[in-house]
Amino acid sequence: MIPKLRSNVRSTCALAIAVILSIGTLAEGQLPFGQKPKQYPWPNRSLSPDERADLVIKEMTLDEKIQMLHGLGWESMFMQPESGPGTRAINAGGFIPGVQRLGIPDLQMTDCVEGVSGAGAKGRYATALPSAEAMAAGWDPVLSYETGTMIGNEVRAMGFNMSLGSGINLMREPRGGRTFEYKGEDPLLAGTLAGQELKAEKALGLITDVKHYAVNDQDEGRLFVNSVIDKRAMRESDLLAFEIALRNSGAGAVMCSYNKINGAYACENGYTLGQVLKKDFGFRGFVVSDWGGTHSTAKAVMAGLDIEMPGNSFLGEALKKAVQSGEVPQARIDDMVHRILRTEFDSGVVDNPPQPQSPDVMRGLEVAQKIEEKGAVLLKNAYDQLPLRASEIKSIAVIGGHADVGVLSGGGSSQVSPAGGNAVTPPPMDMNDMLSFLTVPVYHRSAPLKGITEKAKGAAVKFDAGTDPAAAAALARSSQVAIVFALQRASEGVDQTGLSLPDKQDALIEAVAEANPHTIVVLETGGAVTMPWIDKVSAVLEGWFPGIRGSEAIANILFGEVNPSGKLPLTFPRSEADLPHPARSIQPPQKPGQAPLPGLPAIAGFSLNQSSFDAVYDEGLKVGYKWYDAENKQPLFPFGFGLSYTSFAYSDVSAAPGEGLTVRFKVKNTGKRAGEETAQVYLTLPASAQEPPKRLVGWSKIALEPGEQKEVTVTVEPLMLSVFNVDKNAWEIMPGEYKIWAGPSSRELPLSTALHLGEKGR
Ligand code: BGC
Repeated sequence: MIPKLRSNVRSTCALAIAVILSIGTLAEGQLPFGQKPKQYPWPNRSLSPDERADLVIKEMTLDEKIQMLHGLGWESMFMQPESGPGTRAINAGGFIPGVQRLGIPDLQMTDCVEGVSGAGAKGRYATALPSAEAMAAGWDPVLSYETGTMIGNEVRAMGFNMSLGSGINLMREPRGGRTFEYKGEDPLLAGTLAGQELKAEKALGLITDVKHYAVNDQDEGRLFVNSVIDKRAMRESDLLAFEIALRNSGAGAVMCSYNKINGAYACENGYTLGQVLKKDFGFRGFVVSDWGGTHSTAKAVMAGLDIEMPGNSFLGEALKKAVQSGEVPQARIDDMVHRILRTEFDSGVVDNPPQPQSPDVMRGLEVAQKIEEKGAVLLKNAYDQLPLRASEIKSIAVIGGHADVGVLSGGGSSQVSPAGGNAVTPPPMDMNDMLSFLTVPVYHRSAPLKGITEKAKGAAVKFDAGTDPAAAAALARSSQVAIVFALQRASEGVDQTGLSLPDKQDALIEAVAEANPHTIVVLETGGAVTMPWIDKVSAVLEGWFPGIRGSEAIANILFGEVNPSGKLPLTFPRSEADLPHPARSIQPPQKPGQAPLPGLPAIAGFSLNQSSFDAVYDEGLKVGYKWYDAENKQPLFPFGFGLSYTSFAYSDVSAAPGEGLTVRFKVKNTGKRAGEETAQVYLTLPASAQEPPKRLVGWSKIALEPGEQKEVTVTVEPLMLSVFNVDKNAWEIMPGEYKIWAGPSSRELPLSTALHLGEKGR
């Protein structure tokens, strides 16, 4: 064996040397004899990214420039072209060939909102993290940075140099199919956490991207829906989330969304792209269309679109012709290319290209577990039902939710391949059920039943699938404690039809709760759900889509090894009647036999209506909790809410103006266990500002030992004190009385103080 091994090593080395030598000869071989390869000046790292980009542009032909402005077509995502630059694509995410002769790298893109998606199709492994919503529920910028580092390392390990995360569309439509991919309903929370995640990815040398810009808050008819919303509302909510994320992360790309905004497609919208993003935010990176979201050439380019993905219907040959005819000025093409190149130099993808290697699997698992342990939200805990005391429990019924084999994950382009395959054999596709038609439900192999069984050593733990409520109730009746796992599937491409748990799970929970007063519900949902049974169960834990370490994390919380600290990043309404729009904005009846996306061939039996329809966001500024506050509606569970196994007391608030505001108060752990509290600060603006009753302006996540007290300082930046004046196209501070609130949730604010601010914020 050993000699054979040696000779293998030797031949591998010989091959490597031959490859290296051949690269050198190739480069020189293309040049006239005796001429040295040209030394280009842009590798000089002491030049700024802008200087380096300009130097490259001087050497480029029009064809090379156009090549950088689009992908190679839908087909390149699904099948590799036989030859040509497409063969260098390493995954179905997105690929743009670079300009090899000038040393400009290919752009290799991957979705990675919850870990690198789709890796399994190439036989690779990536960590399946909990949903982005669970990350948001941690309210923990430090953890977001850690998460970004972990994701970024896996992105690089697979050889990608551009990440297509993170998503920060605000939850204006709680039934939106991609709620689980986003970071809740508040712009400061979403923007801050996404900003930290992307900052960490960028620090590793990746181009990062924030999506989907903008007001893409429902998936129903996403290619044709027209989001109708006024400018002030947009600037102070959905666009503000992007403003904060971009400023905090230095992200190099923004993905414009599929929908229209006030009549113009997001990828050809002069207001959102040209005015707001590029002028007002001063964004110097590039705008990439969502996949199939480009609808025109000159219009889109002149509005601000820089790259068409994944194909070249509009920004390939058509763009070249538009430049040659003068319809698109050469200067704009150079600006597009400059934005891409400066981003490549700025991020490090030229100087520090990824070196493929095995992902750090153990690190990924640790981070996945930590996100779930910090992001699961304890919503109810009557009579201290939780934590379960393992030594006192003799029998546990675990019911439903495929808890015997795995945890549910969200579907669509963010889907991380389930390690070892789907834990549940998917049901046959049902053309009448859009959710099952568009995506197969995927379960990661992390069985809560196993985690619970391992903790409850002395107890008989039995499982019932929950398909027959009577059988489940019988098991619950004969057990000391019943734990029901209730699921709500969610996927890109299709919204929830309502907020009720599907598949008669409400009836299942009612039946189990009837049979056993110690019923605990663990939810794995894509967003808020209604809970008609809430008064009948003793505890509820919202676990979101828990990821590859869901079993361990959920068991740790149920049995008290981890004290829950997650807080809701979105409101749970009592009923759909309380939503700003009780009825969803639905696409009108569909026509059969059309393409699933522009540029793709029509699929027999697949229907898609290409006519536009409106989703009117006339709740305006009142997004999420601001709606419930303004309309005096009591939510089921408010934004910012989440219980702990210990208790906290708030005292001694003060607020001082300066560069923004500095808010100080004390938080004490008044219980018997160590715990973490997310102390939140809200602001009520003067009446003249005509704002909803309050907005989140800052928070601090603090760890406290039993009896320990800490002074918390929350710095509120001037932007968060401001309102957007559309006439002046500027933020301004309204002079008047400001009230500052602090406490554990948006509806429990024991501390308040007031101060007067002039228009300079002092
Ligand atoms: C999704 C994007 C995603 C892209 C590439 C689109 O369908 O909307 O979020 O980045 O596909 O996978």
